[in-house]
Amino acid sequence: MGEKMLEFQDINYTYPGGQKPALNGLNSSIPATKKNALLGQNGSGKSTLLFLADGLLKPQQGQIRWARERLNYDRHSLNQWRQKIGLAFQDPEQQLVAGTVAEDIAYGLYTLKLSQAEIKQRLGQTLAEFGLQDLANHPLHHLSLGQKRRVALAGVMARQPELLLLDEPTAYLDSVQTGNLLEELERIHAAGTTLVIATHDLSFAYQWADWIVILHEGQLIMSGEAQDIFSQGNRLAELHLAVPILWEVWQVLVSNLSLPNTMPFPKTIRHLEEQLRDWNKPSQP
Ligand SMILES: Nc1ncnc2c1ncn2[C@@H]1O[C@H](COP(=O)(O)OP(=O)(O)O)[C@@H](O)[C@H]1O
Ligand SMILES: [Mg+2]
Repeated sequence: MGEKMLEFQDINYTYPGGQKPALNGLNSSIPATKKNALLGQNGSGKSTLLFLADGLLKPQQGQIRWARERLNYDRHSLNQWRQKIGLAFQDPEQQLVAGTVAEDIAYGLYTLKLSQAEIKQRLGQTLAEFGLQDLANHPLHHLSLGQKRRVALAGVMARQPELLLLDEPTAYLDSVQTGNLLEELERIHAAGTTLVIATHDLSFAYQWADWIVILHEGQLIMSGEAQDIFSQGNRLAELHLAVPILWEVWQVLVSNLSLPNTMPFPKTIRHLEEQLRDWNKPSQP
């Protein structure tokens, strides 16, 4: 699976006043450089795992390791930890603190103790990268949900984390907004940031992820390369996670057309079309 970036060992976490543990003996790890999807039904513990990964919650039992090193909870360690790991909340309202777009992004940079010149430079660069220049001086409360999400994400990325965690980033977005988000995530990943997206949307994970972690009732029950996870369709169905129709079509094609098993599974209809076209091309004389 490659280098482990973040590891969770025997994690137990119960919320104050909670009836049962939100995470119950969880063991899991996040491989570096991948596009990781954290899947599971509502209530399976995904958000709790992200809060623990960002040091917002502290497990009652177990350890979290970054590049094999145990994370500690004193103020200095937490500051260092949060420079490496950024978390975009499901609800951007919980994240945005300042009056305007530019002030909010700058606020996150002040806490890094950068020079004024560097703050100015990073703020300008971030506004440009996220297409927010025109909104820079807009009050946050005038923005739409999609815009608020973009500002919150820009604020996290301005801090240049090595690992970006996103909690249900596609919730309530329409297909155009989801497409824009995917482009933004592609750019962030291509620039070298490892991504983890918590989602209950298996279709989204199918299109996007190359490594998949599945939680169920606070425990890890499956993890692996996307290709291997989707080939266990029966187990996914048992977990009430419906396998995307495109995967099922692909299985039928693979077995009926004897496609080479080196062909990667198609993530979109267009991708499927391209693969079949390439495969059908007469070989050059
Ligand atoms: N603030 C809270 N107080 C008490 N219980 C909580 C709180 N937040 C979540 N839980 C419980 O913890 C479990 C895991 O929740 P969560 O991590 O939010 O799951 P997911 O993100 O997968 O939907 C659920 O049983 C949920 O009811
Ligand atoms: Mg959640």
